[in-house]
Amino acid sequence: MNTLNKQIDHPRTTIDYLAHHPAVIPELTQLLYTEWADLYLAAGLTQQDLRAALEQRSVTNQLPLTLVAMAEDGTLLGAGSIKLDEPGTKAGLSPWLGGIYIKESQRGLGLGAQIVTALEQKARELGVAALYLSADTAEGFYLRLGWQTLERVESFGVRDVVLMTKQL
Ligand SMILES: CC(C)(COP(=O)(O)OP(=O)(O)OC[C@H]1O[C@@H](n2cnc3c(N)ncnc32)[C@H](O)[C@@H]1OP(=O)(O)O)[C@@H](O)C(=O)NCCC(=O)NCCS
Repeated sequence: MNTLNKQIDHPRTTIDYLAHHPAVIPELTQLLYTEWADLYLAAGLTQQDLRAALEQRSVTNQLPLTLVAMAEDGTLLGAGSIKLDEPGTKAGLSPWLGGIYIKESQRGLGLGAQIVTALEQKARELGVAALYLSADTAEGFYLRLGWQTLERVESFGVRDVVLMTKQL
């Protein structure tokens, strides 16, 4: 299936593939790099590296991929990805949910949950049996969505994170 265009709970908002909205890649790069600057710097990744990764995730039927939440007028509201690895955490686990980000003014409206659910559904369609993620302040958000805590680790020695998993 090459289209997602999932109409979600709140009016005039759509969850879609980043592949269908290439114009938002620069803004999304900036938002994600600002949110997780310490981890990107610890990993030796520049903004340009992140932008290249998002361009690589601009696909519809294979991993890694990125979904975006878009307002009807084409404004970016948030995003989330499925990635093949999560540097700085634990080797050998894959794939990973990551980069789940909702713009501050749009939080608490259910968009984050909708993006995570859409990513889980897409992973299931692609034959993924279990997903992993690393979280710091959002453990409760994922517990509500049926994720289980695996263990606590120190990501790159700069952030305490919790590793979580969900069977699909
Ligand atoms: C975490 C984040 C994605 C949540 O997005 P959101 O759109 O505000 O979340 P939702 O409105 O879908 O919330 C769904 C549920 O989780 C709860 N929730 C939201 N953020 C939470 C948090 N940080 N901790 C615990 N619970 C949380 C909500 O209260 C809601 O509960 P309910 O279903 O009982 O009403 C958003 O706050 C964000 O982008 N934060 C900055 C980046 C970040 O931390 N990303 C996660 C990386 S692991």
